Amino acid sequence: MRTIADHLFDILENSVNAHASKIIVTISFFKHIFLCRIIDNGTVANLNNVTDPFVTSRKTRRVGLGLPLLKSTVEGTGGHLNLSRLERSSGTCLEFTVNMAHIDARPFGDISSVFIDALRSWPGIEFEIFINNAKKEKKILDTVELKTMLELDIIQDMEVLNYIGEQLKKALFKIGINQQFGVS
Ligand SMILES: Nc1ncnc2c1ncn2[C@@H]1O[C@H](COP(=O)(O)OP(=O)(O)OP(=O)(O)O)[C@@H](O)[C@H]1O
Ligand SMILES: [Mg+2]
Repeated sequence: MRTIADHLFDILENSVNAHASKIIVTISFFKHIFLCRIIDNGTVANLNNVTDPFVTSRKTRRVGLGLPLLKSTVEGTGGHLNLSRLERSSGTCLEFTVNMAHIDARPFGDISSVFIDALRSWPGIEFEIFINNAKKEKKILDTVELKTMLELDIIQDMEVLNYIGEQLKKALFKIGINQQFGVS
């Protein structure tokens, strides 16, 4: 079964394919509504009808499934999905919500591992990750800051990645996202 975490990886991959060098992710969870916002500084393609499987900038095949599948997951719970061009700079903002209390909601899956996989797969991309509940916004990761602090060019060391994974897991748990089992 496709989890929210699987969708998240697909969307991050879209930003990478759009040649983004920076991706800012905000996750919040409040009153059973999971909200995810991803802002990148990639090249903006034509964003019309991108949730149609036959709209893709892929060169290897003529269908793109990431957004249509996400749309189905989101709308199956009465949530929304919106992809828009940033107004003040180049890049894209994708936002979606899922009502996790809905009977058709997919499980969260392992969201912290998605970010670790992303850091390992795309070491050249800077990430900022914010995790919020209704009261507080907290920046959990800023790869630029972390690299400066640790005097690293890239973050590939397993010890550092494991530490980031633990911080993310804790922050997600705190707002009620219990990795494998949906709403905690
Ligand atoms: N962050 C983004 N920046 C720029 N264009 C985007 C972004 N996300 C999606 N798109 C556009 O929307 C299209 C459809 O995305 P979608 O994820 O559905 O399919 P895909 O990425 O082309 O293929 P697949 O997900 O199956 O590998 C992309 O081909 C791209 O043109
Ligand atoms: Mg895609």
